[in-house]
Formats: sequence, C-alpha cells, structure tokens
Amino acid sequence: MKGRTIQDLDTPALLLELSVMERNLARMVQFIDQGPTRLRPHFKNHQCLWLSSKQIAAGAIGITCARVEHAEALVSHRISSVLIATEIAGDAKLSRCAELARQAELILAVDNPHVVADIGRIARNKRARLNVLVDVNVGQNRCGVEPGEAALSLAKAALEQGLVVRGVMGYEGHLNLRPPSPEKENACRAALQLAVDTRTLLERNDISCDIVSAGATGTYSITGRFPGVTELQAGSYLTMDTSFLQSTTDFERTLTVLATVISKADGKRLVIDSGRKALSGERGLPVVKTVQGVRLTALHAEHGIIECDNPLVPVEVGDKIEVWVQYADTTIQLHQRMYGVRAGRVEEELAIVK
Ligand SMILES: Cc1ncc(COP(=O)(O)O)c(C=O)c1O
Repeated sequence: MKGRTIQDLDTPALLLELSVMERNLARMVQFIDQGPTRLRPHFKNHQCLWLSSKQIAAGAIGITCARVEHAEALVSHRISSVLIATEIAGDAKLSRCAELARQAELILAVDNPHVVADIGRIARNKRARLNVLVDVNVGQNRCGVEPGEAALSLAKAALEQGLVVRGVMGYEGHLNLRPPSPEKENACRAALQLAVDTRTLLERNDISCDIVSAGATGTYSITGRFPGVTELQAGSYLTMDTSFLQSTTDFERTLTVLATVISKADGKRLVIDSGRKALSGERGLPVVKTVQGVRLTALHAEHGIIECDNPLVPVEVGDKIEVWVQYADTTIQLHQRMYGVRAGRVEEELAIVK
C-alpha cells in the first residue's frame, strides 16, 4: 500500500492532503489553547476514526456526533466522552444509547419531555447513567426548545427522570456559512447569549450546569471566545471544503476527488468518471483543482461534465485530474475510504464510518 502514488489509485478516489490537515489541526489547537473554551469536534464531517484520534491527541475533550451508530463506533474506538448533538427518539436507538452509557460518558441533546421520559425509563431499566444537554433553539429553527422557561421546565423533567442534566446546547447553525461581518458577529453573540442566559436560569433553580455547547467552523472564532460557552462543536475546520471558504479562510481545503477523464470533445468538453455518486453538488458545483481554464458545469449520476474555456487544455482521455470537494459532509459519506496523501504519495488508507 505505502509507496503508491496518487496516479496509482483507481478512481473515483477521495484524497486528503495530510500536511494541510495537520496545519488545520494545529491552527485550531493554537486557538483553543488561548481561551477557556474546549473543543469537542463534530464527527459527521469526516466520519473517520483515525482523524478523531488525531483530534483527541491534540487536546479535544471528546467528540460530538449526530447518530447512534457513530457514537458506537467512537466508543469502540476508545473515545471516552461522546455528545450526540442530534435528537434521538424511539426505544430501539435509546436502548443502544443506554448500552453505550455503560461503557463511556454519553451525553444526549434533548428537546422533548416524552423522549426525556423514555430515556429515563430505559436508563433505569439498564442501570445506565445518561447525561443530557437541554437543546435550546437560538435561531436556527431546527431542533431545540425555546430558551428560558421552556428549557428550565425540560431540565426539571429530566432531573425527575433521574437523568444527569449537564447543561445547555445552543447551536447557532443558521450563521455558520455567513461571510464575516459585524452583523454576523452581533447575531452570533445574541444567539449565544440566549444559551448562556438559559444556563444562568437553570443554575438559579439549583440545576448545576458544567456545559454550554455551541459552535461551528464558520463561527468558531466568535463562539470559541464567547463568555460562558464551555465547548465548541466545530468539525469541518479539519478537512475544510470550498463552501466554508465563504465564512472563514483560517483553514485550508484538504479534500479532492481524483477522477479519470473518460471522454473528450476537443476544445469543448471533458467528461470524468465522477458524478453525483462520488462528488456532491450540495452547496454548489465543485471546482476543478488541477487543470486551469476549465469549469465543472454538471454532475450526472456517474458522469461529471467539464466545459473547456481554454480550447487547448492539455488533458487527454485516461488522464487523472483532481476536483475540490465542495461540501465535505455530503461528499465523504459517498466513499468507503479516503486516502491520506503527502507530496503525491499515498500514506494512509482511512476507513469512513457509515
Ligand atoms: C449540531 C451541530 N453542531 C455543530 C456543527 C458544526 O459543524 P461544522 O464545523 O462542520 O460546521 C453542526 C453542523 O452541521 C451541527 O449540526
């Protein structure tokens, strides 16, 4: 395996430039080291246990994830503290959570009293210690109870069920992709204040909270310094993608898809063997990295269509070219593995957890 070059890989292949990933990792470590907020990076971006281990080795206090199967993979990988930041409902999945809670610290985001009652019943039956964060809607209008009294009432319900209330989550995802501006900063602060004020309300009601969790790659520099936020959930910073460049240029893109040119209409068009099954078109069409004067203009299921602005583009059928990943979350999950590469050589073959 080792000693192979990128050109030896079959396509489509997802490539991760290791030296750039290491720079992103170090950049976040440097940021976190200067402030009180700790990092609990989100797993849903890279879905790669090898990368989670790198983040933990670099000081992350645990991992955030969205799914029970990802939490299971993380705990099997000896990650000792996992936050599932997406609401879980239904006995089958909650029972798996209770099993996990017997092996590691598991924290669940909750926003519903019926689910809280279910978690309480299952935790008692399984003699598991389940921690919860009251998820507060700070403006994204996705999950979360309203800040203030509604959150307090849910926290009380969780305590009555014998659950351990650890604090509050207030994910400001609606601001994640906004370009930097004073308006973004103000909106972010206002959103986070709702979460922090809710924590204060809980504490005034004798519910002690050690966690206020928030944050994303596009807001990390604001959220990671906001007084009262204890944990940052940013995940995409490590691999980055083209879509996040609109909200921060503090991190560099690491990911490309290596594709083979399978057809060429001279001076007009190239076709690659990577369509929507290898490259996500979510958040815009991906951009070709390694060939100048061309534009990817369409993704079919199995074909990527590239228009040539330069009619003399020096690419032939059979050549391999790289395309930047536009949105890492929805691209990585299309692949079974990613190849960690450095200076054109393949160093790692990394499994992607499904
Ligand atoms: C609950 C939650 N937390 C944090 C994040 C931030 O992740 P990222 O750094 O990839 O923007 C997301 C992204 O969708 C999320 O859904």
